[in-house]
Amino acid sequence: MTAAGARADAMTLLADLSDAPREGVWSAPGRVNLIGEHTDYNEGFVLPFAIPHRTVAAAARRDDDRIRVASTFAPEPVEVALAELDELFPTATGASPRVPEWAAYPLGVAWALRQAGARGSGVDLAIASDVPVGAGLSSSAAIESATASALNDLWGAGLDRTALARIGRRAENEAVGAPTGIMDQMASMLGETDAAIFLDCRSLEAEAVAVGVIDAGLEVLVIDTHVSHAHSTGGYRERRASCEKGAELLGVLSLRDVDTADLARAERVMDDVTFRRVRHIVTENQRVLDTVRTLREHGPRAIGDLLVASHASMRDDFEISVPELDTAVESALAAGALGARMTGGGFGGAAIALIERDAEQAVTDAVRAAFAASGYAEPTVFTVVPSAGAQRDD
Ligand code: GLA
Repeated sequence: MTAAGARADAMTLLADLSDAPREGVWSAPGRVNLIGEHTDYNEGFVLPFAIPHRTVAAAARRDDDRIRVASTFAPEPVEVALAELDELFPTATGASPRVPEWAAYPLGVAWALRQAGARGSGVDLAIASDVPVGAGLSSSAAIESATASALNDLWGAGLDRTALARIGRRAENEAVGAPTGIMDQMASMLGETDAAIFLDCRSLEAEAVAVGVIDAGLEVLVIDTHVSHAHSTGGYRERRASCEKGAELLGVLSLRDVDTADLARAERVMDDVTFRRVRHIVTENQRVLDTVRTLREHGPRAIGDLLVASHASMRDDFEISVPELDTAVESALAAGALGARMTGGGFGGAAIALIERDAEQAVTDAVRAAFAASGYAEPTVFTVVPSAGAQRDD
């Protein structure tokens, strides 16, 4: 499906759902992260960019105070009274058993907006998406950002993009129950054509940095391994806990306050596993800063080694890669990619590879062949360009 297909689906869904006239259509993208993994909840630096794949939310007003959401993810719409949202969320375990998990994303956003003081009348929302689900491309942030943008306008809440990203993260953390940082929502809200978003996750200051792949004759390839992950469980939560433990042992508020010169001391005061988690975050923050500087001074051809070093750190120190992701990275590099790394939270999902435009077929074929030779399911391989963030489409 294409973003145009998602738009058509959202329109059809809304027409089935509501007799009221359509009030508007909003959309928000997924993202890839160029570099800076698991640094966001450590108040560090990230460099994601929005991709062309989008979630579309079409809305109609209701004349009562109920919210109804329908999506292509499930056959049945879910309807609740707006005031009831405050009883549904937050729940200790995330998604309320009274709503299906997919509905916790848009309803969680409505709840978080109300928590922030927004008020408005009832609404019917129809949601469709062409962001691959479970691929580490932030399909959830795309739903949150599209919904937050729609309700912000419909309810006249007047929140800016950063505030809407915070609303989306609150929904993800407290309504869905995934303890994520804010990178994905910020990338989805603030994305820009041809630029990555250099974000300081402590101050939430964001700067667009030209990636320049097109002018340099390069492409960014996404390799979706189809190994699915869920950040509300297991490994992601554990990594977060290790980072908090490391910060505590070093007597700092967060690992943002640790730099490479502190690593020798860190190694002395903590166990090996915690130390390696800490070392990943500290070196990854530095790699984000180095990547931004390198992009500005030398352009995208020069960032390949930083991407490769980032992957090695995630594989060996943070231990969030899986064999399929390593195969994607290694086979892309062997076929001539300038750099490659897994992207997103890990434990599955996708890798990115920076390649020469005219090597797209050769790299794709090499990756597919390596997957086949290892007996892995066929990956989906496609290119992405830095794209616009959340917007009202009409
Ligand atoms: C997921 C989370 C983000 C971030 C990344 C890892 O995508 O949603 O907040 O922590 O993992 O960089």
